[in-house]
Amino acid sequence: TKHLAVFASGTGSNFDAIQLAIEAGTLDAAITLVVSDVPTSAVIDKAKRKGLKTFVFDPKSYPNKRVFEIEIVEALQEAEADFIILAGYMRLVGPTLLHAYEGKIINIHPSLLPSFKGLDAIGQAFDAGVKITGVTIHYVDEGMDTGRIIAQEAVKVSDTYARGDLQRAIQVVEHQLYPATIQSLLQQ
Ligand code: GAR
Repeated sequence: TKHLAVFASGTGSNFDAIQLAIEAGTLDAAITLVVSDVPTSAVIDKAKRKGLKTFVFDPKSYPNKRVFEIEIVEALQEAEADFIILAGYMRLVGPTLLHAYEGKIINIHPSLLPSFKGLDAIGQAFDAGVKITGVTIHYVDEGMDTGRIIAQEAVKVSDTYARGDLQRAIQVVEHQLYPATIQSLLQQ
């Protein structure tokens, strides 16, 4: 069974979906660490309630990214993590972490990349008036949302949708696609 470290900054609905898939037996993996750069994030509460090991840090209390990523790598090694699963981790991964987990870092992004990179991809797509957007799962490299694409799924933007409706439609797809894609990666 492979060990996953889930990184998240916020709500953690994708963390929930991965955790539920593991409990249901459709994802053969174990979450051995949850990492967050937001000490007050809901995802950390959820992880603690599940009894999972957490590593929480406040980037502002470090001189630079290298210093906190060295601590993250130590926590990952202690947790014997095989893969890093970014699930709403709203921060660029730096060279320290990239080199330690080369080819083992995966991200989910709420658009059909290479469209709508960066922050608020759902709002960007909504404001652009596109009729199709979607979800991308990709390897992480040094760029922002630029790594090799692993899986994509389209989501139609109905004419009746408000922004929140699009967000919900995207999340429904994310919560199915992420665990399924991780499972097929682990089978390889
Ligand atoms: C998800 O929609 C994810 O695709 C997005 O953040 C949300 C996190 O939600 N990630 C990015 O925008 C990365 N650039 P969650 O905390 O409920 O899983």
